[in-house]
Amino acid sequence: MSATPSLDAAIHNSGPSRRFCVAPMMDWTTSHYRYLARLLSRNTLLYTEMVTTGALIHGDTERFLRHDPAEYPLALQLGGSNAGELAHCAKLAEQFGFNEVNLNVGCPSDRVQNNMIGACLMGHPDKVAEGVSAMIEATSLPVTVKHRIGIDGRESWDDLCEFIEKVAAAGCRTFIVHARIAILEGLSPKENRDIPPLKYDWVYRLKETYPELEIIINGGIKTFDECHEHLERTDGVMLGREAYHNPWLLAGVDAEFFGDAAPSRSRHEALRAMYPFIESELERGVFLTHMSRHLLGLFHGVPGGRQFRRYISENAHKPGAGLEVIQTALEKVREPERSAIAEA
Ligand SMILES: Cc1cc2nc3c(=O)[nH]c(=O)nc-3n(C[C@H](O)[C@H](O)[C@H](O)COP(=O)(O)O)c2cc1C
Repeated sequence: MSATPSLDAAIHNSGPSRRFCVAPMMDWTTSHYRYLARLLSRNTLLYTEMVTTGALIHGDTERFLRHDPAEYPLALQLGGSNAGELAHCAKLAEQFGFNEVNLNVGCPSDRVQNNMIGACLMGHPDKVAEGVSAMIEATSLPVTVKHRIGIDGRESWDDLCEFIEKVAAAGCRTFIVHARIAILEGLSPKENRDIPPLKYDWVYRLKETYPELEIIINGGIKTFDECHEHLERTDGVMLGREAYHNPWLLAGVDAEFFGDAAPSRSRHEALRAMYPFIESELERGVFLTHMSRHLLGLFHGVPGGRQFRRYISENAHKPGAGLEVIQTALEKVREPERSAIAEA
């Protein structure tokens, strides 16, 4: 099942560059993390945490879709499988200003499996195709799919090709491929991000088999050297955990992959640039810890970084904690001399 799919279905606009992306990560890629990420890279495409169609339709829509325009380019990730609901939520994504809408076909959690959300949908390619087609009909935003290379019981190359071909025939042109299967019986979501072996060659083979599709590779990528290697065989890279634990990595992305200057010249400068946003969020009633936990990685591997993290961890949760906690924590790390900033 490796024939080129019919792509007669409308291939809509391809949207923002996906050469370098930060993965959707529940509780991690919140608006606060994304704001920091954007201060480090203008070109990286950021993804929201997954939001289920049920939460958007029956819950506090404004709260779930809240973001700052400074975060663009930004993709909204949806979890769901009902075509009508997906179409409705794709429309909402456009109304709220997102630059792309992405469907989650990779999350292996039990909770979502029961609702036909996430990786279990790899076993229902027709359902995914139907959902994608409804989303494309409903919005002019690019509609993309993030998925695994298989699930237990459906892990052959032909199964993967059937999935891609059906979803591509529905009009999806961009596939973000986490290069391992998800084992739905017996592994936790966390184990499912580490235990099934990575098979990058499968993702390369997808690009060779379907050169007209945009194939973005994800899973276990940590360094720019690795990114360059993948970019020789695919159209883009998506980093998750490394981009979260070591966000300063993003400060090199614009120069390395887009031939552009980086927006922040030092970690200190980036953090200071975030102060007005932190203050306005505090005024809105957001607790400092909800923001500061996403800043802990900024001084990863830097002398003083541990003291920075410790000060925030010990103080940010205290009642009334405000921006001064971040300012004092920042003083724990020596600011590089101007001449050293360029090499940092
Ligand atoms: C804390 C956490 C939450 C995640 N939440 C989502 C999610 O909401 N949607 C999704 O498609 N993937 C989610 N993932 C998976 C990542 O998007 C990514 O596919 C996976 O971590 C592999 O990439 P990495 O090795 O670069 O981290 C999550 C991963 C982590 C660590």
